Amino acid sequence: MLFRSDASDVNMIRKALEKNLFFDQITSTELDSFIDAFEPIQVAKGLDIVTQGCLGDFFYIIGKESTVAFHMNGVQVGEAGVGGSFGELALIYSCPRAATVIAMSSPTNLFRVGRKTFRSLLQQQTKRKEAEKIDLLNGVDFLSAMSEFDLNRLARAMTLNVFQCGDVIVKKGDEGDAFYIVYEGQLHVENISVGSTKFDDIKLGRGDYFGERALATHEPRAADVIAATKGSAFRIDRKTFERVLGKFSRVIMKSQDRKIMVRNSSSVY
Ligand code: CMP
Repeated sequence: MLFRSDASDVNMIRKALEKNLFFDQITSTELDSFIDAFEPIQVAKGLDIVTQGCLGDFFYIIGKESTVAFHMNGVQVGEAGVGGSFGELALIYSCPRAATVIAMSSPTNLFRVGRKTFRSLLQQQTKRKEAEKIDLLNGVDFLSAMSEFDLNRLARAMTLNVFQCGDVIVKKGDEGDAFYIVYEGQLHVENISVGSTKFDDIKLGRGDYFGERALATHEPRAADVIAATKGSAFRIDRKTFERVLGKFSRVIMKSQDRKIMVRNSSSVY
């Protein structure tokens, strides 16, 4: 529908969606077809666009030269201008509108997309995220004997941790509280020692994992893991790890020993 609008509107909608946390995993193809589904509307100054307590039907982005005001229980709680968005809460959580949104410009230019399109985009994102997590888990050698059921449980418990270059994700000597799988970016494993044996530094990238040793052995962290670039890693905490993987501790240790031996003999990293 947006073919009727000009390029600056399309750009504005693109930027508004890109900065929206709900669409952080959207692909550029999905983004293009989503942008296409928006329709431009105009609302006269002073009218309610969305009414607190009502059912949600549309998600809105605010267009040029326009402002809206948010009211809760009759009191203004905020306002937003061009590039801002509203109306996502009722669509995502299937709850009544949390606030009344009033058009403040004459007229107020908006772009809106229907509930069905909005929700199906979020569902696509969720499905893709789950598939990506399973893919990463499938690459972890000590998990190869796990049932699909357990893998899915692990995937659901994984949370994405974003890091910046120089961040210390694991500190040598600390108690281990989580296990990580690298999603994007590079990390360095430094100062590795187990007992009196020291090992070469290791570089980690997408799909590599770390932090499992301390969880499996209950020994302190055997190395520092430091971000060499910005990136992110999926994190599984000790409680989940033990609940799902408790019985795998010995397998984990064997694969950990092999990992260190392989890396030292062939300098893979
Ligand atoms: P939704 O509840 O669907 O419809 C009203 C919208 O107002 C809501 O989504 C948010 O997008 C927006 N809003 C802005 N400020 C607030 C606030 N303080 N509390 C709740 N919703 C707010």
